[in-house]
Amino acid sequence: MKDRPPMLVAGIGELRTTLDFERSVGRSVGFVPTMGFLHDGHASLMRRAAEETDVVVASIFVNPLQFGPSEDLASYPRDLARDVEIAAGAGVDLLFVPGVEEMYPAGRVLTNVRVAGVSETLDGASRPGHFDGVATVVAKLFAIVGPARAYFGEKDFQQLAVVRRMAADLSFPVTVVGCPTVREPDGLAMSSRNSYLSAEERAAAPVVHRALQAGVQAVEAGERDPAAVRAAMEAVVAGEPLGRLDYMAVVDAESLAVPDVLSGNLRLLAAVRFGRARLIDNVGVTA
Ligand code: PAJ
Repeated sequence: MKDRPPMLVAGIGELRTTLDFERSVGRSVGFVPTMGFLHDGHASLMRRAAEETDVVVASIFVNPLQFGPSEDLASYPRDLARDVEIAAGAGVDLLFVPGVEEMYPAGRVLTNVRVAGVSETLDGASRPGHFDGVATVVAKLFAIVGPARAYFGEKDFQQLAVVRRMAADLSFPVTVVGCPTVREPDGLAMSSRNSYLSAEERAAAPVVHRALQAGVQAVEAGERDPAAVRAAMEAVVAGEPLGRLDYMAVVDAESLAVPDVLSGNLRLLAAVRFGRARLIDNVGVTA
C-alpha cells in the first residue's frame, strides 16, 4: 500500500467507523499525530509506524490550545498538498485532517488534561499552558483513533515525557514509541518552524546542536557539575550573535529534574530564538 495516496478523513465519526472495521478484522492501528508542514522527521515516524503496525493513521491539526496568545498560531506554516505526498511516500493509509470546529465544537473546551511536574519546567516554564494544550489534544486524539502504538519524536523530548505520563496515568491502551531526531546534514534538527529562518539565521542555527555537542563532550571528559556543563553549552551559543538563548539545561533523562551531581542517563536540552523562530533541540549522554 506504499505510495498509494492516503485516504483523507475530516470527520471523527467517519474515522472511527473505518478504524473500528480495521480492528474488527484483526489489524493493528499505528498513529502519528502532527501539526503538518511535514518533513523527514515526521516521515521517519510514519515509516516506523508502517513497519510495526497494519494500518497507519497520521493526523494534521494545528492545535490552538497549545499556542500562547503571542505565539505563531495564525502564521504556522501549512501545505496540505505537499503533506499528502510525503505521507503517501511514508506509508500512511489514513490522514485525519479535522477542522477546529470538528475538534472543539463552538470553540468551547471545558476539560483540560494537565500533567503536573514534568510539564512545569523547561518549555513548560517558557510557554505557560503549552503542555496542557498538548496533553489535552493528544488524549483526545488517542480517544478518537484508538491506536495500539503511537509514535513521537525525541526532538520534543519533554513532550514525549508528558505524553508517556498522560497515557500511563489515564490508562490509555497504547504503547508510546519514542523515535530519534532527524537532522539536516549540518546538524540542525528538522522542524516545521525552520521555515521561519532567514538565510543568515539558517546558516547560524546549527550552533544549537554544536552547543549540545559541547555539553556531551564536557560530560564525557568527566565533568559532573550540571552548572559547569550548562555554562559550556551557553558559551557556544553566546558566540553566535543571531541566537538569543531561552534556556539550556542538563537533566535526568527519566525525571527531567536537574541532579546535584551528574550520573546515569542524562538529557541536554536547549531552546534558542533566531528572529521569530524559537528552536528547540536535545541530545542524550550517559555519565
Ligand atoms: P509537530 O511539531 O508537527 O511534530 C509531530 C511529531 O513529529 C512529534 O512527535 C515531533 O516530536 C516529531 N518530530 C518533529 N521534528 C522531528 C525531527 N526532526 N525528528 C524526529 N521527529 C520529529 O509535536 C507536535 O507536532 C504537536 O505538539 C502534537 C504532538 C501533534 C500535538 O498537537
